Amino acid sequence: MHDKFQIKPGKDLTKLEVDLINKARSLEFNSKSLINPKPDNEDWEKKYFLLKDQNDKTLAFAMLLEIEVEFKRVRHSILGLSNLIAINKGKGYGKILIFKMKKYIKKSGLTCIGFCNKKITGFYKKCGFGVIVDGCSKTLYKDIKGNFQSDRFGGGDLIYIKGGDGLVRQILDNPKENLIIFRPHW
Ligand SMILES: CC(C)(COP(=O)(O)OP(=O)(O)OC[C@H]1O[C@@H](n2cnc3c(N)ncnc32)[C@H](O)[C@@H]1OP(=O)(O)O)[C@@H](O)C(=O)NCCC(=O)NCCS
Repeated sequence: MHDKFQIKPGKDLTKLEVDLINKARSLEFNSKSLINPKPDNEDWEKKYFLLKDQNDKTLAFAMLLEIEVEFKRVRHSILGLSNLIAINKGKGYGKILIFKMKKYIKKSGLTCIGFCNKKITGFYKKCGFGVIVDGCSKTLYKDIKGNFQSDRFGGGDLIYIKGGDGLVRQILDNPKENLIIFRPHW
């Protein structure tokens, strides 16, 4: 059986893993930026979740990054979910990986938030995530100059797992308020 699950910070990724992740991101998201774990960038500590088969072949991967956000002037430390990719689709690998990640997220007690293309929202719903429709555009990136920037994906839904901080309840109860983030949408 497949089902070899690994969690590692970027600094522990092998070159083979980094290359595979970069190739898949380029293919799936047309991503121009490269994962390049170095002590002075966020890839170094970012947590990578890898599902592999018995021959160490990566079947699916995703990332979680601890991120500061602000809602109604209150800061929250949350987990940002990003870059979920199943190398071979429709074989259950995405779901297996996400269920393992959910265990990690629940154990952390933190709220988890990701942004997703509407074509993928159904997948996350099936995996037990909550959805804020068009939540991507209600999340604003405040850059270091204090300027607000809207999402670079051109819209999408916000998916979440509730944490102990009540952030999701706050967002749902205050639909006119924006969620402020301090790095570009992930
Ligand atoms: C999204 C993705 C990770 C799903 O992984 P996958 O391994 O193909 O999906 P699974 O085989 O585990 O599917 C699990 C369930 O979700 C359903 N599902 C899969 N993709 C779906 C979609 N786009 N919409 C609705 N349901 C979907 C499957 O039918 C399956 O249902 P079942 O449990 O009732 O049989 C994969 O399609 C992918 O890599 N997409 C490209 C990258 C991407 O867009 N990532 C998301 C970034 S937000």
